[in-house]
This record gives sequence, C-alpha cells and structure tokens, in this order.
Amino acid sequence: MHNQHIHSITIIGAGTMGNGIAHVCAMAGFPVKLMDNSEEQLRIALQTIEKNLTRMAEKQKIKPIEVGSSLARIQTYTDVKQAISEADMVLEVVPEQLSLKKQIWSQIEQGIDPKRLKQTIFATNTSSISISELAEGVTHPENMIGMHFFNPVPVMSLVEIILGNKTSEQTFKTVESLTRELGKTPIRVHDFPGFVSNRILMPMINEAIYALHEGVAEKEAIDQVMTLGMAHPMGPLRLADFIGLDVCLNIMNVLYKGFQDAKYTPCPLLREMVDKGHLGNKTGQGFYIYEV
Ligand code: CAA
Repeated sequence: MHNQHIHSITIIGAGTMGNGIAHVCAMAGFPVKLMDNSEEQLRIALQTIEKNLTRMAEKQKIKPIEVGSSLARIQTYTDVKQAISEADMVLEVVPEQLSLKKQIWSQIEQGIDPKRLKQTIFATNTSSISISELAEGVTHPENMIGMHFFNPVPVMSLVEIILGNKTSEQTFKTVESLTRELGKTPIRVHDFPGFVSNRILMPMINEAIYALHEGVAEKEAIDQVMTLGMAHPMGPLRLADFIGLDVCLNIMNVLYKGFQDAKYTPCPLLREMVDKGHLGNKTGQGFYIYEV
C-alpha cells in the first residue's frame, strides 16, 4: 500500500543524485516526473537508470520485467511548471548553491496550483545547505524538509532526514514513511552545519588529505589503512574523488563558517586541487586518474 499522502513524485534536477533518486522511486512503484532544463541531461539520466536497473536484474536483485516497468513510470520534462502542476511531493536535487536553490523554489511555488500549495511536500536533497534558511523564502515552511540521499543512491540505504526550525511533525512523518517505502532507512537529524553525515565524514576526508600533504604516507597507503584496518569500502582519498573534491571543499567551508572553529580548516592541498580543476572521477583526475 502506498503512502496515503504521496501518489507521485516530481524530481527537479537529473544529475547523478537526481537520476539515482528517480531510479529508486520508480522501482518502488511511484510515478516519477523527472525535470531538468537540459534535454541532454535527461537523456543521459534515462540511460544511466536503464543501465543500473539492468545491472540489478543481472544480479537478481530485481526481476527482469521490473527494468521495463520501472522505466515506464518515469516521464521527463524540461518545463518546471508542467512537471509540478499536479505534484504532491517535489524533491529538488539541483547543484549545491543557495541562490540557485532559492530561485528554483520560488519557480516551484509560482508554478503549483495555489490550492495544492498547502498540502505539497517540499523536499530538498542537500548535503550542506541549511533547511531553515532555504525555507525562509517559501509560503509554507512547515512543508519543507531535507532528504539527503547518498551516492550511489540505488545501493546506499541511508536517507538523512533534516528538520528545519519550522518543519512540521506531519511533514516529517510523511517523508519518514515514504523513505521506508523506497526501501531506505530514514534517520532524523536537526539542521546543524553538515548535519550528522558530513560533520563526521568530511573532517575524516580532510584529515586524510592533511596526512598526504604532510607526507605521512602515500595515497594508496592512506586508503589501505582505512579499507583494511577499518573495513571502509573505499579509502578516504578515493571516496573524496568519488564525491567530488569541489563538493568536499564546499562542505568543509560550510563547517568552518558554521562553527567558526579552526579544526574545520580545509587542507591547502584540497584547495590547490580544486583550483587546478582536479575534481576527482568527474574530471578524470583527483588523487587518482580515471577514465571519463
Ligand atoms: N546502481 C545499482 N547498483 C550499483 C550501483 C548503481 N549505481 N553501483 C554499484 N552497484 C552495486 C553493484 O552491482 C554491486 O552489487 P553486488 O554487491 O550485488 O555485486 C555492488 O553495488 C558493489 O559494486 P561494485 O562491485 O561495482 O563495486 P564495489 O564493491 O567497489 O562498490 C561502491 C562500489 C558501492 C560505490 C562501494 O565502493 C561503496 O560503498 N563506497 C562508498 C560509497 C559512499 O561512501 N557513498 C557515500 C558518499 S557521501 C554522499 O553521497 C553524500 C554527501 O553528502 C557527500
């Protein structure tokens, strides 16, 4: 039985996280409206979802028939207004810039039928932007909530659910039960810089970069200490490449500014790599070299 409140999900942004979220929502049986202003991005997103669903079918995690049936639940849009017109849940997954997110949320508010506005859930996938701050510009801040998914979305079972200072308990409960329907585990957290996940993960990654910078060990050695000694699936330097070094730097800056504490100072080597455009897997070079 589906969530009493949510019948279909509109996802704004079809990048890595957006397509992963569309994948799990469609697989869980929800009709999905996936919006991006780039046709090309939407094409790549559908291709990626098909590839990942097929991989899951090959590994017998889903039935082969579910590849086609899940894909058939996803409709793509390049127009925000069309994508949200009948939405009861809008999940925004655009890049991590407060001004961009605010602009998209004001477009969403203007596009929704005013009668639906009060009952629509507004969720944002963010790793570092304050939910309370984002909600300042919306008419119903009680309906706004953070839903922080993890990459690769079809594999990682956590959704960190962040309550802003005005998020209602009803919004939380709806999103909590939706998360379970998606086959994920919801974890409730409050709106502090980095929430829980990145407050712990990023300083560890930053410290690994300091260890490399200071010559404590070679990059492979640092990663092996954490994979072999602590059973992490990836070492911190490889994980930093996977996340994106620009994203890591951005989150360290959020922690540094938010807590005004020197312990969050981003490592100079991290800054240097971002300045050079060595951002990790997506650019082909980070701490390691990748095929793009
Ligand atoms: N879709 C579906 N399935 C996928 C997938 C995808 N996109 N990517 C990987 N998989 C599946 C594989 O099919 C494989 O399945 P089996 O276990 O059945 O074989 C499994 O996941 C493992 O994949 P691989 O064998 O290809 O490779 P691996 O064992 O090296 O695992 C990994 C890859 C899952 C990425 C693993 O290395 C891992 O868990 N790394 C850590 C990832 C992590 O920490 N992510 C969080 C980043 S932080 C974040 O996202 C938020 C933020 O705010 C910064």
